[in-house]
Amino acid sequence: MAIKKPTGTKDLLFGEAQSWRDFQNLAFEHFAKFGYIECYLPTFEQTELFVRGMGVTTDVVNKEMFHVLSSQNLRTAMEAGSLDALKVKNRLSLRPEGTAGVVRCVIENNLVLQGAAPVKLAYAGSMFRAERPQSGRFREFYQLGVECIGSDSVFMEAECIIMLAQFLEDFGIKPEITCILINSIGCEKCRDVYRKKLVVFLKSQESKFCEECYRRAETNPLRVFDCKKLRCVAVMKDAPTIDQYICEDCRKKFEQLKKLLKLGAVQYVEAPHLVRGLDYYTANVFEVQVDSESTGLGAQNAIGGGGAYAHLVKDLGGSDLPGFGFALGYERCVLALGEVKVHATDASTEKYYVACVDENLREHAFEYALKLRTEGKIVEIDSQGRSLKSQFKQADKFGANFVVILGPEELADGQCRLHNMQTHEETLISL
Ligand code: HAM
Repeated sequence: MAIKKPTGTKDLLFGEAQSWRDFQNLAFEHFAKFGYIECYLPTFEQTELFVRGMGVTTDVVNKEMFHVLSSQNLRTAMEAGSLDALKVKNRLSLRPEGTAGVVRCVIENNLVLQGAAPVKLAYAGSMFRAERPQSGRFREFYQLGVECIGSDSVFMEAECIIMLAQFLEDFGIKPEITCILINSIGCEKCRDVYRKKLVVFLKSQESKFCEECYRRAETNPLRVFDCKKLRCVAVMKDAPTIDQYICEDCRKKFEQLKKLLKLGAVQYVEAPHLVRGLDYYTANVFEVQVDSESTGLGAQNAIGGGGAYAHLVKDLGGSDLPGFGFALGYERCVLALGEVKVHATDASTEKYYVACVDENLREHAFEYALKLRTEGKIVEIDSQGRSLKSQFKQADKFGANFVVILGPEELADGQCRLHNMQTHEETLISL
């Protein structure tokens, strides 16, 4: 029986492969204008990084991590009957998100020196969560994100959200179907007061929640807001919200964020129920949602989100540096777009097909194709001894703009024919 791809994964082929590259290129170019530089970090890290980073009671850490075991470590764990038998450095997991890895990298490479400007990093790549697959929800998915570490300025936070809104529009996601939700979830001071009020409410309603939220009410009450089950959503509509409890500092930061977003012409909606699913957030958070129905995304309509994390760097062993960032889910962005969109390529990516009129000239075709590629052109040649007619058919399939035809007489004069695939004009050119 043929082997199939694992559940919840996807083959990115043809237009989709190109579109993922476009998505990244367009983003990296745009983000570079704001000082973000790209980085590529490990796909797996020590499990401890995610546990300490995202919080042990979050769904992602608790239920959705993929663990990575070498054969030796698998044997050790099986003999002991637990992953805990492994040394901490051998407990590894596929990254479920990018923020914790970026923070680890910033600490390990000492990227923010005391008194220096914040470090701004952009990343793109696969993330892994063992969730139940459905439209817009995969087990391996692609994220694009940025992190700015070393500044707690609201200007930087607003700039980050404005940069994202501009990118989404450039990529083709219509502002009419997009909604940017913002909230302040407070700092450790005000959140503690709020948490107590919330727990009182949750206890008074406990019979109405699903089993999981019943447990969450004890372990991590804010997470009850993340539950998508209708009965829990209905109860949480009446829950106290943090906006009534945030301290003066957090309120000021939130008001300033709103003012700056207006300056940047970004439309937003205040969402007091927005808490985000990971524990590291503090104060200003946001989420980009798209219309559930027209995009077919249903409950998975958050195409991106992020916020501030005042203590993550310290919690992961670094100095006391605040951070802010976001991540976008590529698959959901494509669904929001309604089509796989490949952005216009420039002239340097014109495609060439080098054809030869007989088999003896194959080596010349091979050599000429190599030469064209060193000039930055995209070039294909025949590898199966096809006739000239079938080489033309292949060139057409390849999407060639030009076919270079090598024939013995032209070659003897150091020339070849250049066939324009659109106009079918042929000109003699020098090799
Ligand atoms: P997140 O909200 O967990 O945040 O994920 C960001 C985006 O990744 C989501 O809005 C969604 O588009 C996409 N995504 C998440 N899970 C899946 C899935 N199973 N299948 C398909 N797409 C998915 C973070 O990951 C934070 N690290 C964002 C951040 C950066 N906060 C601060 N800096």
